[in-house]
Amino acid sequence: MKLKAVLALSVLPVLFTSQANAFTVGVLMPTQDEARWYREGFGIENELKNSGFNVELFFGGDIDVSLQQRQIKRLSNDSNIDALVIGSIDGNALADALTIAKSKKLPVISYDRLITGTDAVTYYATFDNGKVGEIQGKFLIDKLHPTVDDPKNIEIFYGSLDDNNAKFFYGEAMKILQPYIDSGALVIKSGEIKPEETNIPSWRTDLSSKRMDAIMDKVGYGPESGERLDGILSPADCISSGIIFTLKKRGYTVENIPVITGQDSTPDALKNIQEGYQAMTIFKDGKQLQDTVLDMVKAISKGQEANINDTTTYNNGVMDMKSFLCTPELIDRSNINKLL
Ligand code: GAL
Repeated sequence: MKLKAVLALSVLPVLFTSQANAFTVGVLMPTQDEARWYREGFGIENELKNSGFNVELFFGGDIDVSLQQRQIKRLSNDSNIDALVIGSIDGNALADALTIAKSKKLPVISYDRLITGTDAVTYYATFDNGKVGEIQGKFLIDKLHPTVDDPKNIEIFYGSLDDNNAKFFYGEAMKILQPYIDSGALVIKSGEIKPEETNIPSWRTDLSSKRMDAIMDKVGYGPESGERLDGILSPADCISSGIIFTLKKRGYTVENIPVITGQDSTPDALKNIQEGYQAMTIFKDGKQLQDTVLDMVKAISKGQEANINDTTTYNNGVMDMKSFLCTPELIDRSNINKLL
């Protein structure tokens, strides 16, 4: 084929997929390094493009808050951008970066994590995060059957303090666990219960592994001669993976590993569940969340109100959020096949 013909063919698809006048959405995801956000960033991009929208997708590097602030400002100043979808790194640190968007009345969808301290947010697309914590708490009780006569030792991990979701996971899980802790049926030997004591900054796997090591040393937990450890409330798979890494290193096997919870159905977690190292995770259907965002973008692009199903659960410190809450689902060995 002649060079000219090859060039013409290679240019054609570009002309057809990128529509000069189409509504353009700037999509910002917190990091490409965590399986969940990488998958969902490209998922939203595809979904929006398939419906004829233009997309500019950015990831927040190595969980870099200032990079994300700069991305928001740059996209807000870009006259081609018609709306922003933001999965925040630190939801409390974006109010300033959003002032340009606010002054231009640029619609902003807060994706999964709530952006707080500003009224620049138009809609919040997320999951029922309280329900996630409730499922995790109930799962631990169902598996451990703690009673005052047969108490069980557990440890608690909180997510990242700068993530509003972490509050909901912990809050609802603790509503289930606290009565057992109060009665002595559940015992936290490290004595570390509060968010300030149990949080994992930026949800980092290496830091959860480190904290698990520190707890082991503090309490003397161990698979054979050490203190018995029965369960761990972990809010998300990225934290569970770090915990499991430490426990394996310390000699735990599938025979004696504590009951460990999780969330996100990451590839790592699914493997750990199949092998017996992790007891459960939560499936947050990325497609459901992406469809929600797509519906919101469609409505916004037509100047209409988007379909929401909640206005009372989330307040970002400035206003009640117009939210759509998707449904989380428990995954354990009994139903993991549907995700494999
Ligand atoms: C939360 C999110 C969880 C998990 C976690 C770590 O905001 O709701 O599903 O992904 O971040 O990235």
